[in-house]
Amino acid sequence: MNPFERAEQAGAELVGRLGGSFEAAVVLGSGWAEAAGGLGSVEAEVAAETVTGFHPPLVPGHGATLRAMTVEGRRVLVMAGRVHLYEGHPPADVVHGVRAAVSAGCSAVVLTNAAGGMNPAFGVGQPVLISDHINLTGQSPLSGPAPPDGYAIRFTDLTDLYSPRIRQAIRQDTPSVGEGVYAGLAGPHFETPAEITMLARMGADLVGMSTVLEAIAVRHLGAEVAGVSLVTNPAAGRGGALDHQEVLDAGQAAQGQLAQVLSSVINVL
Ligand code: HPA
Repeated sequence: MNPFERAEQAGAELVGRLGGSFEAAVVLGSGWAEAAGGLGSVEAEVAAETVTGFHPPLVPGHGATLRAMTVEGRRVLVMAGRVHLYEGHPPADVVHGVRAAVSAGCSAVVLTNAAGGMNPAFGVGQPVLISDHINLTGQSPLSGPAPPDGYAIRFTDLTDLYSPRIRQAIRQDTPSVGEGVYAGLAGPHFETPAEITMLARMGADLVGMSTVLEAIAVRHLGAEVAGVSLVTNPAAGRGGALDHQEVLDAGQAAQGQLAQVLSSVINVL
């Protein structure tokens, strides 16, 4: 099976096992899991690895579950247990979940993540809308064999990748949310201070190890993309030493605000 057919198969399984199709999906990054709990009641849940093409997670803090929730009257697929390039997975596996979500009916996908902050305006615990990204992974989910018949060609326009419509609505709804450019690197090591200086000069406000490939894949499928980072630490050289626990703790501290941002995003979809 090619990656597109595999995702279609997974999407059909999700529709069948989670009680019907979906309008939107939320991908939960590090620190976001509990915020999703505050969105509403879980109607059905499956372990991700029991669905075609999904891997069990390797990173603590990512529970691999796929949940059906009704949020603001919409059927939302909430996906925890993202896979990352740094686990050794190919780009097609990294974007499998979001392709399955679009195949399950989602016309919008919200990508959340934990990020280091370069922009001094963004303190730890600040949710920041992604206005655009710089993909420094050296990878694309659209490389390899051409997409099958019925799919858009692979030369996808990424102008306005992160829906201006959604961003504007959220800015109005939740003015405390920041907005900035996310640099996506392969990781898993954190950056050097020299790399952070370079990224800031390139125009990045945030740095992380996910999101960019998923955003490209969703856009290629014609669905809307929104991205929200939680700043979990000052980027390297701009604060203290970096560690993964700090990333998880910052998520814990910001739960209330994150839940509010998530429901605001879903409200405007
Ligand atoms: N760098 C890269 N990824 C991250 C960071 C960071 O500082 N914080 C959370 N994810």
